Amino acid sequence: MTRTKIAVIGGSGLYDIDGLQDARWTEVKTPWGAPSDALLTGVLDGVDMVFLPRHGRGHVHSPSTVPYRANIDALKRLGCTDVVSVSACGSFREDMAPGDFVLVDQFIDRTFAREKSFFGTGCVAHVSVAHPTCPRLTEACYKAATDAGISVHQGGTYLAMEGPQFSTLAESRMYRESWGADVIGMTNMPEAKLAREAELCYASVAMITDYDSWHPDHGEVDVPEIIRTLTGNADKGRDLVRRLPALLGAERNPCPHGCDRALEFAILTAPE
Ligand code: ADE
Repeated sequence: MTRTKIAVIGGSGLYDIDGLQDARWTEVKTPWGAPSDALLTGVLDGVDMVFLPRHGRGHVHSPSTVPYRANIDALKRLGCTDVVSVSACGSFREDMAPGDFVLVDQFIDRTFAREKSFFGTGCVAHVSVAHPTCPRLTEACYKAATDAGISVHQGGTYLAMEGPQFSTLAESRMYRESWGADVIGMTNMPEAKLAREAELCYASVAMITDYDSWHPDHGEVDVPEIIRTLTGNADKGRDLVRRLPALLGAERNPCPHGCDRALEFAILTAPE
């Protein structure tokens, strides 16, 4: 058994978590540069917690400039074992409505202007991301969401786009009709891939704010609409997070799905 340390990466609308004991903001240095912001550490229900605002307090990083490698590295350095990503997304499905939450289990990565790996020259590794999220951690998020009375969907494919502009109508229709994506957002990639390379369990809690631009009965997506829905949802996100420590417990067994051993058979470079 090892000690659980839960990291929460908060997206738009979630810039801290409440109820933390011994809460303090800590600066962490990494070889990949500075993380998005200082990290808030503390204890909730006897479990160690770390919170990182993905866009920084004051929302200063766009999805393309979020320092994803520094963020995951900083969480690893602080000893985190589990990473819960909270983010806003658009929906491609009528039955996944604004205000609902989706526990994402697959991604289509269409981002192209971001550093996506800790590995390269010097040490080459290819981790599997066939199943990019951790079922054990996702199950805990599902239980937390249902206990909190949140309308939540278990499983969904998240199209990660570069942004910062929203999709054209043709793109929105293609992602929905031909590619089978359920939701769309700008931040979960390469975050999920890097978490796997860092051998961290990763779960994605996506909060639906809009129907993107495909829906004939809804106008095109804009920021005021997203903010309106996020404001109504921030409390639900906080409620979900508050319930996680009690569900996960202060001690953990190794991940039954091997997230914490992802590098075991992934490194090709010969040891020195
Ligand atoms: N985040 C929230 N809504 C979005 C959308 N429709 N497209 C991309 N990112 C989003």
